[in-house]
Amino acid sequence: MRVSVFRKAHFNAAHRLHNPALSDADNKRLFGLCNNPNFHGHNYMLEVRVKGEIDPITGYVIDTKILKDIIQKEVHDRFDHRNLNLDTSEFADLNPTAENIAVVIWNKIRKCLPDTLELTIRLYETENNYVEFDGL
Ligand code: NI
Repeated sequence: MRVSVFRKAHFNAAHRLHNPALSDADNKRLFGLCNNPNFHGHNYMLEVRVKGEIDPITGYVIDTKILKDIIQKEVHDRFDHRNLNLDTSEFADLNPTAENIAVVIWNKIRKCLPDTLELTIRLYETENNYVEFDGL
């Protein structure tokens, strides 16, 4: 009986999509408005899914308070109201696309969870654009 537990969180952050290995013209073509040199912001919505067996003692897969605190420490405290390119070491040399942000967040949360729990990250950059990463 493996059950999934979900926790949502929001954070606001600025970024610029840019690959310094490419020409300005190619960056503009690939990333459009997201290549704006002066950055732009998103209201990111994060959905964290933890799947595992129900603990017979607690009746929980994971205490959502613990999950909430992990997200607060690993994601919110690091990325909320930051410029991802300029203010974070994670994206100093990594293009902060939704895909890359999801992988970074997955790695941060993964190391806080026991191996018995599966982890999936879904990151909404806009209402209609979102990505998902489960570590595979
Ligand atoms: Ni953007």
